[in-house]
Amino acid sequence: MSNEFSQLRGTAPAGGITADPTGRPETTEAEAIVLFLTEGGVGSGCAAGIDAATGGLLGRIAAAGDLTGKRYECVPLLGAGGIRAGQLLVVGLGKRESVDAGVLYRAAATAARQLAGRPRGRIAFAAEGWWTPRQLEQAVAGAAVGMVGQDLYRAERRRTPFGATIWINAQAAAVATGATIAEGVNLARRLINTSPDDLYPQSFADEAAAVAGRTGMEVEIWDEDRLLSERCRAILAVGRGSSRPPRLVMLRHRGAGGRGDAPQLALVGKGVTFDSGGLSLKPSDSMLTMKCDMSGGAAVLGAVATIAALRLPIDVVAAIGLAENMTGPAAYKLGDVITARSGTTIEVHNTDAEGRIVLADVLDVVRGLAPRRIVDAATLTGACMMALGHDVAGLFTNDQPWCEEIAAAARAVGEPVWQLPMYPEYDEQIVSDVADIKNVGDGRWGGAITAAKFLERFVGGIPWTHVDIAGPAFAEKPRPWTDGGATGCLVRPLVEIARG
Ligand code: BES
Ligand code: MN
Ligand code: ZN
Repeated sequence: MSNEFSQLRGTAPAGGITADPTGRPETTEAEAIVLFLTEGGVGSGCAAGIDAATGGLLGRIAAAGDLTGKRYECVPLLGAGGIRAGQLLVVGLGKRESVDAGVLYRAAATAARQLAGRPRGRIAFAAEGWWTPRQLEQAVAGAAVGMVGQDLYRAERRRTPFGATIWINAQAAAVATGATIAEGVNLARRLINTSPDDLYPQSFADEAAAVAGRTGMEVEIWDEDRLLSERCRAILAVGRGSSRPPRLVMLRHRGAGGRGDAPQLALVGKGVTFDSGGLSLKPSDSMLTMKCDMSGGAAVLGAVATIAALRLPIDVVAAIGLAENMTGPAAYKLGDVITARSGTTIEVHNTDAEGRIVLADVLDVVRGLAPRRIVDAATLTGACMMALGHDVAGLFTNDQPWCEEIAAAARAVGEPVWQLPMYPEYDEQIVSDVADIKNVGDGRWGGAITAAKFLERFVGGIPWTHVDIAGPAFAEKPRPWTDGGATGCLVRPLVEIARG
């Protein structure tokens, strides 16, 4: 699959991803063929065909207890007679009734990650007829994400994308869509995994401009002069401690064709390319992974790139606030009062609560475009990880139906989210003695919510949902379906939202 942004600088050169709608697993020629197996499923679907062609091989191994179909179990069978693939890799889906798009995404990624452990030629995946088109798309995306590791800076790769991927028994349109979604996820992962010495506000903006060029989007990049003339003093304050000046990137996909100038959807991303904490310096252990603090911006860029590549019929604006939070001589200080673009004054109580300050201006810029709805993505608070753990994103909203739409989109692609309350009582916690608001709550309890309450002050009543991805954005340890590092989370839900 060679779509508009696949040749982007540095993108892993994966081979094509194609569909063979009428292919059968037992007659497909490939270096390996991936078979998806539910618990007790040897007798049905593609497994039944393979089992018959191999003289009952799968049934015998299952009877011996070595092939269960349990979730993400991977059983490689080499040299099986009766089929034309050198290797059969059987990956478990668990119980059929609990298979969803997320299970298929992760199962396909698990199999792909295993096979990509060494260079491969042509790899086939056998889709099952009972999958919905959405589920097939996510399986295709999972396979294309799983074969890409975090090898950006390694001489010897640990994962090599396949020479070619072929999805048999699968509709071509769903396969093409899934491959394009994977490009967005892998773009986000690559940016997040890039060393923060290489990825800083201007270089992120350059990447965004390149994506816009390939996908036919309008792009605007505000440098520090423009940020000043636009009164974006909040973004500028956070960026002041760094030798790399801040930027604001705006991308526009006009897929709806002249239905007025207000975008239907605004995607907003936190793009703190490195978060040292500033003068409220983080301890070393917490700082180590803070190159991931632009994951919201990367998710927004990956999503809008996919939305444009898929030519979705919607008018979307994406806005990303880019800054490096450092401790240089001009760094913003505790006690500083910043006048944000909206006119709201912010007293700085902790320079490590910088994401909300950056987003204050980005949200105000977007509000000025009068979009119908706003969703923002941010690695905003450690408190959200305290509440929900590593795998679940937090949702916060001023508009319940909009939040539920986002939750449904996330569910449809298999990314777990959980809503936290926005009771008005939390507002009292960000009242300041000297300014309109302060940038932290009273003490650290409920910190994910007080951060969301801060953001809410800048959306001007437009239906808005904030997604805190501090937990799921970055995996410190490998999982069966990923090498660890950036996960590319929220790209798939954001694309799904734009389709809904
Ligand atoms: N970028 C961090 C949040 C974060 C923590 C993201 C862990 C990913 C993993 C954010 O800027 C931050 O430092 N938040 C502070 C806020 C506090 C000072 C009120 C936090 O959560 O500790
Ligand atoms: Mn911080
Ligand atoms: Zn941060």
